[in-house]
Amino acid sequence: MFSDRVLGIELSGIRKIFDLAQGKVINLGLGEPDFHPPEVVKKAIEDGVRKGYNKYGPSKGFSELRGLIAEHYRKYGDFSGDNVLVTVGATEGFLATLLSVVNPGDEVLYPDPGFVIYAPHIKIAGGKPVPYPIYQENDFVPAEEDIKKRISKNTKAIIVNYPNNPTGGVMEDKDIKMVIDLAEDYDLLVISDEVYFRLVYNTEPKTFLGKYDKLVFINSFSKEFAMTGWRLGYLIAPKEYIEQIGKMHYYAVACPQSPIEYAAIVALKEAPDYVEFMKEKFRRRRDLMYKLLSEIDGVEPNLPKGAFYMFPRVHVDDVVSVVKDTVKRGVLCTPGNAFGNNAEDHIRFSYAASEEDIEKGMEIFAEVVKKHRKKE
Ligand SMILES: Cc1ncc(COP(=O)(O)O)c(C=O)c1O
Repeated sequence: MFSDRVLGIELSGIRKIFDLAQGKVINLGLGEPDFHPPEVVKKAIEDGVRKGYNKYGPSKGFSELRGLIAEHYRKYGDFSGDNVLVTVGATEGFLATLLSVVNPGDEVLYPDPGFVIYAPHIKIAGGKPVPYPIYQENDFVPAEEDIKKRISKNTKAIIVNYPNNPTGGVMEDKDIKMVIDLAEDYDLLVISDEVYFRLVYNTEPKTFLGKYDKLVFINSFSKEFAMTGWRLGYLIAPKEYIEQIGKMHYYAVACPQSPIEYAAIVALKEAPDYVEFMKEKFRRRRDLMYKLLSEIDGVEPNLPKGAFYMFPRVHVDDVVSVVKDTVKRGVLCTPGNAFGNNAEDHIRFSYAASEEDIEKGMEIFAEVVKKHRKKE
């Protein structure tokens, strides 16, 4: 009955773990800002609907929006609306890209641990997912050797994601150069997932954009404007890529959602720096969570430079049991193995939560870890 394609992929088991929680929960498992979109943008979606933006729009997105997105990145290169495809979240942008560039048997490199859609999307596109490891010892940035030794004659593309989910790692300019040099040497496409682009602390955003020709840059309104449920994203790439990927996108979704595009235009015109407001809050919460995690015996946190996740190593015999016990006590968090095979001794905490929840959540987590602590 079902295709090998769909039977070859599975939904993540995280929901089942989250279901262990009873009653009121402290949610440190969230992959989205705990804020809402700017007021002007909330109003704009209503206005959009009333003004009649309820019909199909141009498949690649409204030209005004495509132009504004290009303008938003002017600092990084001379882009125009022709370099932009507006998608249904970064997620659809990813799938449309992989379906447009991967032939059966092509290999695509992706980070392990990494965001959960990469391997399934590569498989759906008929490719072979090839994970490359990233380690806490190296601030969750890949080592050149760890990428290089996984490149074969079939390697088509490499996915990079900085600021990184689930680790909060950020690439410096030298790391970006390292990846680009490899991509040039082996003629690889770089697909750069930068949905946390401006969520960096104590540094300017670092990007692949404008630094390499064979690049698909992926971003979204989800995190930057707290619009996760509105499902609007975009790609920036050479015009001929946009033409080809745009065909896949057309056959998948026809066009982006018109009233949301209308609101996104207002977001870029009237609240382009909204992320700065969230960033200030996230920075304080990050520092608080880092401090509290550092005080727990057996927990080795990293101080993340970006996104809103912390990914400490936890020295216990069975991390999944620690997560389950923590969740049973009402604090949602995610085991490292949800993000690949290379992070089984880690737990992801999101600090997109109030300081009060972070304090209470860390208190409960500390008690659970104490119970499970490895005898060394
Ligand atoms: C690294 C990463 N890429 C992509 C996405 C998906 O973003 P969107 O909501 O735009 O589909 C997420 C969402 O959590 C993410 O963490």
